[in-house]
Amino acid sequence: MRVVFLGPPGSGKGTQAGLLAERLGVPAISTGDILRAAVREKTPLGREAQAVMDRGELVSDDLIVSLIRERIARPDARKGFILDGFPRTIAQAEALDKMLSGNGDALSAVVNFSVPEHVLVDRMLGRASAEGRSDDRPDAIAERLRVYREKTEPLVDFYRQRDLLADVNGVGSVEEVGGRIDGALMSVRGAGEGS
Ligand code: AP5
Ligand code: MG
Repeated sequence: MRVVFLGPPGSGKGTQAGLLAERLGVPAISTGDILRAAVREKTPLGREAQAVMDRGELVSDDLIVSLIRERIARPDARKGFILDGFPRTIAQAEALDKMLSGNGDALSAVVNFSVPEHVLVDRMLGRASAEGRSDDRPDAIAERLRVYREKTEPLVDFYRQRDLLADVNGVGSVEEVGGRIDGALMSVRGAGEGS
């Protein structure tokens, strides 16, 4: 299965992507995690991305698209993947479509997490004290939410029109949300079509 996880910051994409990846036996690919690793290792990519991420803005489409193109071409992603945090703009979604159709592949489903904004903020502030992620500061959180609404939310309609969208209520225990994801994936057209 080739699944995209779409949702605002703090909606549980990363938590659930790791768990679903284990259930399906495919890799969870998080552009945020790849970028944070590059920042830690001070690679050229990391140096370019750090300030943008710390402000809560988006790294350039070209950079992210080439990163994903390289990652999904690896052997472990041949039978499927879960994309956490990509695509995030219409341009990224169109690039992904092209990449996949060039290989004769297509997305199976897009899981759209809904969580009220005050819950998102509480979760990110909770993580700030536990993990100290550098973009979990009130100003960067506000900017990430604004950027989500402006640049990423239009993808909900983009994928709904393609009959790929699976809406999932992201409030509840991690196990409850995981169960809803499994149910939603079964009901989406295309989800059961091969791997
Ligand atoms: P990214 O790392 O993708 O961050 P994000 O979208 O802001 O989302 P988060 O990782 O904060 O939240 P999540 O939905 O994964 O939730 P999580 O499971 O962690 O991106 C970071 C930055 O990288 C971007 O701002 C941008 O600069 C750049 N970037 C990345 N991708 C890009 C792209 N495609 N294009 C351009 N730029 C890009 O959960 C959040 C918290 O809640 C955790 O503490 C968790 O333990 C807790 N939690 C999870 N589930 C539950 C639950 N059910 N109940 C209670 N708590 C829960
Ligand atoms: Mg995440």
